[in-house]
Amino acid sequence: MPAADLLVTGISQLATPGGTGVRRGRQMSQIDIVENAAIAITGGRITWVGRQSALEGKATADLDLGGRAVIPGLVDPHTHAIWAGDRFADFEARATGVSYEEILQRGGGIRSTIQHTADAPIETLVALARPRIDALIASGATTIEIKSGYGFSREGELASLAAIAALRAQTPAAIVATLLIHVPPRDHLARADYVQMVTDDLIPAAGPHARAVDVFIEREAFNVKEARRIFAAARRAGLGVKAHVDQFNVIGGLEAAVEAQALSVDHLEASGPEQIACLTTSGTIGVVLPGVTLHLGLPAVNAGAIIEGGGAVAVGTDLNPGSSPLFSTQLAMALSIRINGLTPAEALTAATANAAAALAVTDAGRIAPGQRADFCVLADRDWRVAPWTMGTSPVERVFIAGCEAAR
Ligand code: NIG
Ligand code: FE
Repeated sequence: MPAADLLVTGISQLATPGGTGVRRGRQMSQIDIVENAAIAITGGRITWVGRQSALEGKATADLDLGGRAVIPGLVDPHTHAIWAGDRFADFEARATGVSYEEILQRGGGIRSTIQHTADAPIETLVALARPRIDALIASGATTIEIKSGYGFSREGELASLAAIAALRAQTPAAIVATLLIHVPPRDHLARADYVQMVTDDLIPAAGPHARAVDVFIEREAFNVKEARRIFAAARRAGLGVKAHVDQFNVIGGLEAAVEAQALSVDHLEASGPEQIACLTTSGTIGVVLPGVTLHLGLPAVNAGAIIEGGGAVAVGTDLNPGSSPLFSTQLAMALSIRINGLTPAEALTAATANAAAALAVTDAGRIAPGQRADFCVLADRDWRVAPWTMGTSPVERVFIAGCEAAR
């Protein structure tokens, strides 16, 4: 074992996805479990993982966990944490039977959040988002994707990306920024101009501030033709591609995103067997968002079928005010077992290694040498407490790059 500046012992059970890269197919059901484990950390990176007995008194522990289980820091691959205003009126209206799509059609929903967010000062956006990010970290998230998408105009979207950059400087978690092209102008004549503004002006300007471009492909949002132009502009700017697809209607979004070699296709609530088949024969990851199924009462995507078919699945909160006010990455993982048909081991992989792959992040999501030292200390000897628990947090302590971030 190399010399360490932090040696963690007393780990009753360490559970982590093994190997490298994206877990595919049946492999997703397998995770590595080390009993009575220890972790050595140097410079914020893991240098050694193994059984504590291998140390044989060669080193003194800096941190003895006294028999608690450890899992990798969770990776939340899909949040819309930058917003102003609220959607309580939508929430009440939906409880009386008005649908999410109807509200959006009338100019409410996402469009009402845009009204509140578009002109908000960057400092306000940061101050509003900060406690949301802190809640995700306390739930175990150590890498968090944040999308823009409520800024709408060139300036509004760039302001949201600036707010994400400010959050990155303020929080210990690794923050990954995505430019989301969310909804077009309501005036049909203005749509083409808007898409041109996005492809020719916004994406090149956003390039240095985002890792990927995401497009909401849906009847009430962008069509496939528009999405293809946006994907091409993302590629020209050197950015990855992501898409919200098949949330309410199957209109070819998944196929178009897979064709563009998207990092991930997210939602999939309405996906049918053809869409699942298209996904499982691609390198694109399917991101399931059980909070949306729960909050909007949508069908649940059978993520087990994606794995059966040889595909890879990740899970996220989709934290946003309209479709998923879910402030716990751990609970998203726990819900994916009940709602999307994953096994506990598959859910752990979905919330760690596969979620990192959906963000093109290679140094998080596993407990292995070379990875950033991000891990969660659980309130039990058995790691399965993490996907099992609902309604209180099974995560006692959160470490990011070897430093304690939440307790
Ligand atoms: O992931 N579907 C589009 N976008 C978000 C919802 C945003 C909102 O309702 O404010 C989603 O569900
Ligand atoms: Fe979303």
